[in-house]
Parts: sequence; structure tokens; C-alpha cells
Amino acid sequence: MRERQALFELIKLLELSEDINVLLERLIYHASELMNAQGGLIRLIKDGNLYITATYNIQTDKKVIPLDEGICGMVIKEGKVRVFNKQELEGIELDIPAYSAICIPLKIEEAGGEKVIGTILIYNKLDSEEGLGEFTEEDISLGQLFYKAIGVVWVDNLYTKKPITEQDINFLKGFADQVAAAIENAWIFEKVEKAEKELEMLFNSITDLLYYTDEYYTIKKVNKAFLDKTGKEEKDVINKKCFQILHKTEYPPKNCPHKKAIENKKPAIAEIEENFLEGVYLLSSSPIFDKNGNLIGTINLGRDITELRNLREKIASMEKMAALGELAAKVAHEIRNPLLAIGGFAKRLDKSLQDENLKEYVRVIVDETKRLERILNETLSFVKPYYMGKKPFIINELINDVVNFTDSVLKDKNNELIVEIQEDCPVQGNYDRLKEVLLNIITNANEATQNGKIYLRLKKIGRLPESENLNEEYFVIEIEDTGCGISEENMKKLFTPFFTTKTNGTGLGLAISKRIIEDHGGIISVESELNKGTIFKIYLPVYQKRRSE
Ligand SMILES: Nc1ncnc2c1ncn2[C@@H]1O[C@H](COP(=O)(O)OP(=O)(O)OP(=O)(O)O)[C@@H](O)[C@H]1O
Ligand SMILES: [Mg+2]
Repeated sequence: MRERQALFELIKLLELSEDINVLLERLIYHASELMNAQGGLIRLIKDGNLYITATYNIQTDKKVIPLDEGICGMVIKEGKVRVFNKQELEGIELDIPAYSAICIPLKIEEAGGEKVIGTILIYNKLDSEEGLGEFTEEDISLGQLFYKAIGVVWVDNLYTKKPITEQDINFLKGFADQVAAAIENAWIFEKVEKAEKELEMLFNSITDLLYYTDEYYTIKKVNKAFLDKTGKEEKDVINKKCFQILHKTEYPPKNCPHKKAIENKKPAIAEIEENFLEGVYLLSSSPIFDKNGNLIGTINLGRDITELRNLREKIASMEKMAALGELAAKVAHEIRNPLLAIGGFAKRLDKSLQDENLKEYVRVIVDETKRLERILNETLSFVKPYYMGKKPFIINELINDVVNFTDSVLKDKNNELIVEIQEDCPVQGNYDRLKEVLLNIITNANEATQNGKIYLRLKKIGRLPESENLNEEYFVIEIEDTGCGISEENMKKLFTPFFTTKTNGTGLGLAISKRIIEDHGGIISVESELNKGTIFKIYLPVYQKRRSE
């Protein structure tokens, strides 16, 4: 980097400098920088001696030396760039403490050939660990560059006092272009190398499966995630068919995006259920073209979307339920008013009609509209979000209320209700909603039982084993019947909306009850034996009166 910087500056300098002394000062500075040396000086021949013309970072008293003295003298004689290491320098008398040096002859073209007109001397390479280094081959070639650029034009002008011609400038420009091109090449190479490394890193840091294939499904390159996921080593997958490695099959899957990408010369995407890799993958395949526009393969990206797909399915079913609920609520609302009108007018008609046959028909209308109204209300209460105000009360009161309410209905089927209450259980809840639950379940028990017994028990049970809250105390309401029981098949469908085995049922009783109990922080469970009976258990938290209340 430093070299490039120094050379660029030098080139700029060569094109811009008009003052030769400034140029030479800068030149020696740049030459030192470029070769990573401590400093240097330029001497030019004048009247049979070597005069210092420019220095950088070097102090010397010897402003003038004889032509044949020291290392400059040697180089002038030989006319070649020379490197001096510590050993060689030991035998030479030096005016500067030096452990290494490079000396470049400055030459000009003359009619009779080349003529040396001075030297550039660079001292003390800095790049070894102890600060003492040796100049290298590279430094020599850099030195030669200097010699060519500076020696030929500027020093020549300085020495011969010839004016600088346009030709000279063109030469320098040409030289500068050449150097620039050489640097650019080096730069591009470096850049490509860096880009390659970066690409490799990027390739491997991607956590999705990433791989190239040729157009015949042959894997050419894979990333780390690919190897991790397949549990294979690179040598086991390169040059194998992608379907063999990924799907463990001898042919590509039906919806293979690679195949589509090759056929259509366009990117393709598919969701592939992958038994071997255990999951659902979103596989995208993009065609790769060479510089003549020929298709040479695809780059493929595979993302594990199993979780996403599960979530998506869940959301879809939730959305469906919500949409269904909304629809049901709308329909129910639309039906409610006409239904009330039909029921009301039918009742009036019943009163004014004399013909018993006609009266019978009207009664059917009244009964059926009643049934429809009930379905309507249940549907509405199930699908509509509702506000549920809760208050503390004693559940025993509610049970008594329900018992009185259901007494006559139970008698119709000759069922005996046996209530067993151990103690008072306070609850924080919605009285009407909980009453609805008990009525639903007792009604079901009654409907399933003939000439039997229905038990209603209330007791405290302490903590629920599955409850996270260790301090919470629960009570349970058990409703047991000696009725027909529920088949295993039907047990699975219990609590799902609209599941019913009754011709007049809506199948919403249990679904609504479950929701209400859960809204109270409770649990509802059921055990049943066919032709023996069923027991529903409702667990609810006991209301703990706080001290401040
Ligand atoms: N105690 C029980 N004994 C036997 N089967 C029962 C009992 N409770 C519920 N079931 C079964 O569960 C089904 C669903 O009950 P749910 O209360 O949800 O609806 P439903 O009683 O059919 O209609 P409705 O919405 O009018 O209550 C019933 O149709 C019945 O088959
Ligand atoms: Mg019911």
C-alpha cells in the first residue's frame, strides 16, 4: 500500500514539478519511503567532484566528495544499481552510520552512449524486526525505475541546462502510465484475491444450504452449512448429483427448482418436503451464465422452513376459525329479527285460530322458532368476544340455584339428583356464566340417563398437580351420571364446536362450557364408560380473600 502511495505521489510530482531542486528533494524523500529506508541523498557530478544536491533525513558534513570516493564512486564507475549489506559496508569509510545501502547511478543518453551524472544513495532499510534490514531485489528494480524516470529527463536537464521539451514531458507521462498500469495490475490481482477470500467467507458464514451445480445436477461447490446439515465431507459431495446427496434418490424430485431454472433460464423456487433432511425446505435455484451468455449451471439456496410452515398452518386454521366465527355472528344477527317476528306472529296466530289442525301446525312453527333462537343465542355467545365481569361469591349458592332450576326436568326422565356438598367454596367469577356451565352439563347428564342417578358433588382438593402456582387452592364440582356413556371415538370430539349426537342438539354446550371454565382459570375433564355412565369434573380456583379487603 505504502509503495503504491509513494509511487503515485512521485508520478504526480514528475508531471507537476517545475523547480528541479524541489523535485529532487521530493524524489529522495519518496525513494526513501518507497524502499522503506531511513533516508537518502542525491549527489551530482560537477567539476570532477560529487556535490550533494538533495537530502532526506540524513546529516553529513561532506557536502563535496571526490568522484572516486566511497560507494558513490564505485557505482559511478560500474554504472549499475548496487546493494550494500552490512559486511560490505564495514570495509568502506562512511560519513553516515549505515548498516545497509542502495546506490542508484543517474545516467543520461549522449551521442557516444550513456553517461553517469550522479547517484541516488538510500540508507538503512527499516523493515526487519530489529530495525536493521537488507535491501532486496525488489528495491533494486524500484531503484531502476527511478533511474529511468529521473536520470533520463530531469537530471539531464539539470546537468546540461537544456530546456525541458514537450518530448521530455511525454516520456515522463508515458513512463507514469506504464507504472500506473503495472500498479493497477498488482492492485487488481490483490483485489481479486481479497474478493475471493471475502466471497469464501461469506459463502461459509451463510447458515442456509448454499451450493453450485452444473446444468446436469452435478455439485461443484457447497458451503459449510451444507456439509453440516448433510453430515458429509466436501470430498463426498463434490461431483456427485445433488439429488443423490440431498434427497437420497436416483432422480430429481418432481418440482425440482434446478430443473425449472435450467429449462426456463430463470430463477425458480419450490417448497420441498425433505424426508432425508427431516423438514420442509424452501429451495431457490438461479441460473448461472458464462460471459457468452451460455447457461452453465445453477446456484441453489435451501432454507429450512419447517417451523415457519407449522406456524403458517396454525395461523391459517386460526384465521379460518376467526372468519367462520365472524360469518356465524353476522348470519345470526341477520336471522335474529325475522325469527323473533315469525315466533311472535305464530303465537298470535295460535290464539286466534279455531281449527285444531291448523293450531297444531302453528305450534310446530312456534317450537321450531324457539329451537332456532336457542341455537342462535348459543352460536352468538360462542363466537362473539364477550366481557365477563367477575365477582366473589359462594359457589354453593349457585349449585342450589341450579338444582332448583333443573328439578322438574330431571323428574321428567325419572332421574334422581343427589347433591353432596362438603363445605363452602368461595369463587371469583361470573355467576350467570358459571350457571350456564352447570346447566349445560347437568342437562347433558339428564339427556344421557333414564331412570338413573345424577350426582352433584362439591369439594376442595388443594393444589392441582399440573398447576404452576403452588399456593393456589382448587375446588372441584363433579357431575356424575349413570347413563349411556360416551364411546372412545366420540370422546376425542368432545368439546369441539358443533359436535353432537342429538337430533336437536347444536353441539355447542360443552364447547361453550370449556371456554367459560378456562376463562375462570379452571380446567374441565371427563371420564366415561359406555353403558355405565359419565363423570365431568370442573376444577376452579378457590377465591382467597386478601387481608386488605
Ligand atoms: N353426560 C353425557 N353422557 C353421554 N354423552 C354425553 C354426555 N355429555 C355430552 N355427551 C355427548 O357429547 C355431545 C356434545 O355435547 P354438547 O353439550 O356439546 O352438545 P349437545 O348436548 O349435543 O347439544 P347442545 O348444544 O344443545 O348442548 C352430545 O351430543 C353427546 O353425544
Ligand atoms: Mg348439551
